[in-house]
Amino acid sequence: MRFATAFLLAGLVVQGARAEQVSDRFAPETATVASRAAPQQGTARTDMVVAAHPLAARAGLDMLEAGGTAVDALVAAQMVLGLVEPQSSGLGGGGFLLHYSSESKDVTSIDGRETAPAAATPDMFLGDDGKPLPFFTAVVGGKSVGTPATLRLMAEAHRRHGRLPFADLLEPAIRLAEQGFPVSPRLADLIAAEGDRLKHDPAAAAYFFDATGAPLKAGAVLRNPAYADTLRRIAAGGEDAFYRGEIAADIVARVTGDATNPGRLATSDLENYTVIAREPVCNAVFSVEVCGMGLPSSGGIAILQILGLVEPWGIERMSPQAPETWRLIGDASRLAFADRERWLADPAYVRAPVSGLLASGYLSLRAKLLDGPGALPEVAPGLPAFDDGALRPPPPAGVTPELPSTTQVVIRDADGDILSYTGTIENGFGSRLMVRGFLLNNELTDFSFAPAGSDGTPVANRVEGGKRPRSSMAPMIVLRDGLPILAIGSPGGSRIIGFVAQALIAHLAWKRPVAEIVAMPHVLNRFGPFEVEAGTAATALVPGLQALGYRVEVQDLNSGLAAIAVTPNGLEGAADPRREGVVYGR
Ligand code: DON
Repeated sequence: MRFATAFLLAGLVVQGARAEQVSDRFAPETATVASRAAPQQGTARTDMVVAAHPLAARAGLDMLEAGGTAVDALVAAQMVLGLVEPQSSGLGGGGFLLHYSSESKDVTSIDGRETAPAAATPDMFLGDDGKPLPFFTAVVGGKSVGTPATLRLMAEAHRRHGRLPFADLLEPAIRLAEQGFPVSPRLADLIAAEGDRLKHDPAAAAYFFDATGAPLKAGAVLRNPAYADTLRRIAAGGEDAFYRGEIAADIVARVTGDATNPGRLATSDLENYTVIAREPVCNAVFSVEVCGMGLPSSGGIAILQILGLVEPWGIERMSPQAPETWRLIGDASRLAFADRERWLADPAYVRAPVSGLLASGYLSLRAKLLDGPGALPEVAPGLPAFDDGALRPPPPAGVTPELPSTTQVVIRDADGDILSYTGTIENGFGSRLMVRGFLLNNELTDFSFAPAGSDGTPVANRVEGGKRPRSSMAPMIVLRDGLPILAIGSPGGSRIIGFVAQALIAHLAWKRPVAEIVAMPHVLNRFGPFEVEAGTAATALVPGLQALGYRVEVQDLNSGLAAIAVTPNGLEGAADPRREGVVYGR
């Protein structure tokens, strides 16, 4: 059986068009964002921006219209996102950029991941009893804050691929911060859901709650003069205005001076922070080349593994409505997660067998494990070859609690440059600490709280001074015959891997258009139980998955996919209907 395609992508006008709800049988039944007036899917000829908030997408498109590049548009969009979607990303966080240059015909990546302070230690997320701290005990306050990286990433991307003056790219965010913007329904809901946790910090409490202490409501006009001032200082003084001097000193004072949960960030951590240009990870699959972010993200590697594990089983011919299809995808994902947990961490600190994990011989061996009638009873990490040819035993599994913020931007400019960027401050509202108009990340809780296995063998993703916590973020670019045909990514913590893998399978194997792949109900498996998206047609799979031997949890699965496909007829873009993202183009 195939998807019923009850909607047409063609014919939708990008700007001003209303979002069409996907009426496919296999699409979400609950339209959580159905009343939004901005377009969540559309077509364009040359330029397109898909971002998680209309004001951010608008700022990006303005830069493209002014003759800017995709990276110029990204910088403008990210600075606005840090204002209007402050819970998800911003100057206090980090991100990963995957970029295709039409000039060099290369996909490159920039790692803008936060680092652990030099003074961080492997045991910092253990309690007095030697056990891992409860997640929010670790998150809220200064302890979880890694060295902010977003501005260095934006500045480096701009040096490489920008055209407009950097200061001009900050203008839309400065204007909005000074004039005010309406609090979105999603931001209002998230503030309300936070309650007192977001009052840990007086600056955050004063910003996100009104004078009576009530959470801001949707539509309330919010001004952020402190953020405008920060951006003006950056516009005048460049990166140094942030990484040295008064702003850096304020960040460090807030982190180290936190009354209940002080952190160890020092001004030298900020001064010394650098982004890293890295080779992306790419593999041939489904007759195209799929490229993703390499370490310290596990996202690209895990997704390439999943695709490489399901392709030999003829996933193209399998139905998205059959539980057996999801058995294959789900157990492939479990195998990838087993490898991820044991092998993957910051390559500057841990030897990681990345080429071995993606080698066709290794993937064929692992794919054979998927030959069976039901759920794999258990999964273990494999033994990939290291670059030196050695086989080493896997280190012990860590303890990394992974809870659902984060934002996804995809952009294509008139030159043909295309990018996929995932930015984050980790948990919604990060560490809850607010300095000079922006929130600080809690990225350090992406490390394993447990530093070693029971026999004392170190966990790959343990905390170490200067190290980058393992991520799941997965900005991806797909090439056919060397030319980009798709850029995609999503928020979602470790569920990002399943969200993006599923969307890629739907696009590349089932030939579904981007508007469908971002809206498809999710069926995920990370660690054994299936997670099936509540309120969607996918719940029909539950009895079948149970009969195959799985435990099934039906729940909200809050992806924020964004995608642009480059087709012979132009650009097709789509933003996830579960969030407030939009598609603008021309
Ligand atoms: O880097 C990571 O994988 C996480 N810090 C991303 C967090 C995230 O996506 C939260 N999601 N909704």
